[in-house]
Amino acid sequence: MVFKTEQMFEILLLCFLTSIVGGLQITTNVSTPKVDSGIDAFTIADIMNYTIDINKFNLDLSGITSLVFEVKACMYAHVLLSSSDVRKSSEPLYEIIIGDYNYRSYIVYRTNDSLSSESRTFKNVNTPDILNCTVYLPFWIRWAGGEIKLGTGVVVSENVLGSLTNTDHFEVRSIGVFTDKNASGNWTIQLEVSDKFAGYFDNCMKDNIKSDMVVIDDIQCSEMRCATRCGMSKTCMGYNFNSAISKCELLWFGSDVVTDIPHHIEAGWRFYSKCFNGKTVCLGWFYLDD
Ligand SMILES: *[C@@H]1O[C@H](CO)[C@@H](O)[C@H](O)[C@H]1NC(C)=O
Ligand SMILES: *[C@@H]1O[C@H](CO)[C@@H](O)[C@H](O)[C@H]1NC(C)=O
Ligand SMILES: *[C@@H]1O[C@H](CO)[C@@H](O)[C@H](O)[C@H]1NC(C)=O
Ligand SMILES: *[C@@H]1O[C@H](CO)[C@@H](O)[C@H](O)[C@H]1NC(C)=O
Ligand SMILES: *[C@@H]1O[C@H](CO)[C@@H](O)[C@H](O)[C@H]1NC(C)=O
Ligand SMILES: *[C@@H]1O[C@H](CO)[C@@H](O)[C@H](O)[C@H]1NC(C)=O
Repeated sequence: MVFKTEQMFEILLLCFLTSIVGGLQITTNVSTPKVDSGIDAFTIADIMNYTIDINKFNLDLSGITSLVFEVKACMYAHVLLSSSDVRKSSEPLYEIIIGDYNYRSYIVYRTNDSLSSESRTFKNVNTPDILNCTVYLPFWIRWAGGEIKLGTGVVVSENVLGSLTNTDHFEVRSIGVFTDKNASGNWTIQLEVSDKFAGYFDNCMKDNIKSDMVVIDDIQCSEMRCATRCGMSKTCMGYNFNSAISKCELLWFGSDVVTDIPHHIEAGWRFYSKCFNGKTVCLGWFYLDD
């Protein structure tokens, strides 16, 4: 019987790793500049164009259902959660606006970019002194099951400020942030990837690519063993493998704040990244080449 190598890794690792906990938290720092006038999903059709994409690693976000972040801004901190992985504003989206002039915060659901009143529903809540111009304050947003919730603090589901139910639930595939009304903002955003490493690695189907992440171990072994070693290590985020010389490099981000995933073209090598939450969340990084 002939197995495709990939399938075989999956089967074996599922057996080996069911009780092993992996996990990944990606922190991104973003600075949003001053935008002069009032920009929001109510009035701007191509709203996604005004946002800064926080998904620097091109993660498949569909397995993620919450976000924890800190923001330092005087007012009008916007988070856009879009169902479109290419940030198309005509697709369904949620907008969370924290702290307008009148200290209100909003959770908005918009079905398309027609700007008609039927195309959106929203909830607003009074949130006095919710932001501070000089201090980073923590918030979370959760969108599991079409229940969109906003709260304060770093623990998802605690200290709920408001929520909006959307029966046409969708998966969030891109996330952007911005500040407007002449306020600039500094953000630290954490994407919490489920810790369910299910023994699957993704190679983006590209040959001759080697990642330049920090090498935590450099061994001579079969690819199966390489995948297993990485799977069993909590710090290992992926591996480079060269089948011609049976070389395996286990890789780590190197720090908890990653700003780029460096890589280069090198014959004979292949880079595999760890997937989480089943196969739904894999790091895919070769957008730079595309
Ligand atoms: C990101 O911002 C936080 C402050 O919220 C800071 O502690 C951290 O050092 C920053 N990281 C980078 C890489 O700038
Ligand atoms: C906010 O971001 C801007 C632009 O990157 C930077 O110049 C400034 O130092 C940041 N402020 C803080 C307190 O991190
Ligand atoms: C907004 O972004 C879309 C897709 O990237 C692009 O086609 C469109 O021209 C942009 N609109 C503006 C006003 O820049
Ligand atoms: C936008 O969504 C609304 C509400 O679902 C719908 O009535 C309207 O036909 C849609 N418009 C476009 C241009 O898709
Ligand atoms: C912002 O935080 C600083 C430091 O904690 C505090 O002195 C100031 O009063 C706060 N400003 C507002 C508007 O809450
Ligand atoms: C934004 O700031 C600029 C320069 O500080 C000012 O000219 C403009 O009127 C301000 N706009 C708003 C909407 O406050």
